[in-house]
Amino acid sequence: MTKIKVGVVGTGFIGPAHIEALRRLPNVEVAALCEVTPELAAAKAAQLGIARSYTFDELLKQEDIQVVHICTPNFLHYTQSKAALLAGKHVVCEKPLAKDLHEAEELVELAAQTGLVNAVHFNLRYYPLARQMKAMRENGDLGDVYSIIGSYLQDWLFYETDYNWRLEPDKSGDSRAIADIGSHLMDIIEYITGLKTVSVLADFNTIHKTRKKPLKPVETYSGKMLQPEDYADVPINTEDHANVLLRFNNGNKGVITVSQVSAGRKNQLKLEIAGSKKTFAWNSEAPNELWLGNRDGYNEVVMRDPSLVYPDARSIITFPGGHNEGFPDTSKQLFKEVYAAVEAGKMPENPTFPTFADGYRELLICEKILESNRKQAWVEV
Ligand SMILES: NC(=O)c1ccc[n+]([C@@H]2O[C@H](COP(=O)([O-])OP(=O)(O)OC[C@H]3O[C@@H](n4cnc5c(N)ncnc54)[C@H](O)[C@@H]3O)[C@@H](O)[C@H]2O)c1
Repeated sequence: MTKIKVGVVGTGFIGPAHIEALRRLPNVEVAALCEVTPELAAAKAAQLGIARSYTFDELLKQEDIQVVHICTPNFLHYTQSKAALLAGKHVVCEKPLAKDLHEAEELVELAAQTGLVNAVHFNLRYYPLARQMKAMRENGDLGDVYSIIGSYLQDWLFYETDYNWRLEPDKSGDSRAIADIGSHLMDIIEYITGLKTVSVLADFNTIHKTRKKPLKPVETYSGKMLQPEDYADVPINTEDHANVLLRFNNGNKGVITVSQVSAGRKNQLKLEIAGSKKTFAWNSEAPNELWLGNRDGYNEVVMRDPSLVYPDARSIITFPGGHNEGFPDTSKQLFKEVYAAVEAGKMPENPTFPTFADGYRELLICEKILESNRKQAWVEV
């Protein structure tokens, strides 16, 4: 079998997660990587067991590389995705697709012109029970959506000494918690319910108005090893915490909270979707269980088990019930669908995976959320 050759750009936290997931697909070979310097690229290639390392420009010149994964900080997504598409490569880009809406719009148009496969790594959709909720809603099991409560809570920026490029707007964009984790939440809510968010009312809070920036570079999640003399005080302008009221196109309403300063919440996306027939409740930190609330009968718990779910959800489950699947499996399942399109050589008419258009949609909502917070008023999407 000729394998599809891939180059991965950026190998901090999520790049290696892409590499591991890609290595679990039979038709894919991670052939090369690229880093911010050639020296780091060579070191990472040796560490990750990848034969070839390049600068970004060199990577795009490699004719045998068909697909490029962009796993760099947010401010690079637009220029790198654009260059990769122009070089004729299929592109899988991390979220958020770009730093602002104009960049995202251009990428959607360019991807459509080239006909190349384009995807955004909204991997949380690929928890099988998230797809089961979507399938249940499509099959009429949920009924009309009455209300949605969503939250995405983390604690890795809890201390004022926690620092990362995401705290710097020139690298992350004007929003932080909303762009970084709210993006997954806004994506998964519309994905599961099929509703469109039509207006938003946002209220942000920055708990740490200044933070202590390390004076030497550190990779994500490793800031706690530094000593006091290694820090400088810097002002922080982006949100640690945000509350957003949402109105949907069915006339009903919801609310989301995101925070990166909730002690003990490591990476918890939680959803409660109340419908006219039942309620779904699901938590990404216990992703193999879905709670179903009933008014006229016992409440139920669905276990992730391929024999118990709709075919659509079954298609993204590899292991039997009781053999738990988690975060690394979500990327594998997403890439499985993306690489079926790459094998076919073009975008499917109705892609099952998140595309650049979904990346644009999520940025649109995020921009409206930012605008609403600035104006302290409802803003239409
Ligand atoms: N889908 C998810 O669940 C998920 C999770 C984490 C991060 N992300 C996204 O992934 C992206 C990266 O986040 P991270 O946490 O891995 O960050 P990170 O800081 O850990 O890693 C970024 C890597 O990019 C490299 N890099 C920087 N500039 C580069 C350049 N010009 N060329 C090549 N490499 C370069 C850095 O050296 C670093 O290794 C972000 O956009 C983030 O939003 C998504």
